[in-house]
Amino acid sequence: MSDRTIEIRPDKNELAAAIAEALEQAVDAALRRGRNAHIALTGGSMGQELMKAWVARADDERDWTRVHIWWGDERFVPAGDDDRNDKQADDAGLKKLGVPANNVHRMPSSDDGDVAAGAEAYAQELAEFTDVTAVGLPEKPQMPTFDVLMLGVGPDGHVASLFPGHRDQLVDRVTVVAVQDAPKPPPTRLSLTFPALAEAREVWLMVAGEDKADAVATAFSSSDPMECPASVVGGQVSTTWWLDTAAASKVEQS
Ligand code: 6PG
Repeated sequence: MSDRTIEIRPDKNELAAAIAEALEQAVDAALRRGRNAHIALTGGSMGQELMKAWVARADDERDWTRVHIWWGDERFVPAGDDDRNDKQADDAGLKKLGVPANNVHRMPSSDDGDVAAGAEAYAQELAEFTDVTAVGLPEKPQMPTFDVLMLGVGPDGHVASLFPGHRDQLVDRVTVVAVQDAPKPPPTRLSLTFPALAEAREVWLMVAGEDKADAVATAFSSSDPMECPASVVGGQVSTTWWLDTAAASKVEQS
């Protein structure tokens, strides 16, 4: 895992604006490298704020047909349900970005079959976008390299739908796990696994609010995924913790 960088902004709005600016730069850098940009979104309120800020900056200059959108996790409920992370992104303006619908890789819903089949289907979709350079390396997860993987962090330290003390976070032979009995509702979810999260070029953890200060402090002092899943995630090139002042308030003491 790459070293951690911490970026602190006074509040959630300024944090979302700063992340959106950095995201725009990361997308453009990927396109300049001559490849498609693969961005993985998070759900939660920080994910929604980021989407609003990204849409506010978006312009037609970029070749959006070369941008792909993915999710780190999804709540396994019907398509279009207000509880779904993709619905929250839609409500925050995702469709205004200009990314073609075919490039928006939504996780399956409970309309599509059972959750195990949903996990397999998303793993298959990821595999179809495996980087050419990964061919011949069977130990490498079959998936695109995300230029940026964004993750919210719960007050319990969960990331995506990998929860502390939960058996499903131990799944490591596949890229997508069907999560059952999640401690946070809804109990049935789809999530990228730890090995899949670790494939990202850049991992951005985005956290705002005083109620997250303990989770952030624990993530910095622990290296045990069963205690704090957020403590072990990081990108191949960089790992950035985007924090507001309140969420960062206990880091130095820890
Ligand atoms: C979910 C959410 C969840 C969220 C974090 C952080 O599927 O239940 O996506 O994992 O990302 O709890 O949420 P906030 O940004 O709202 O604090």
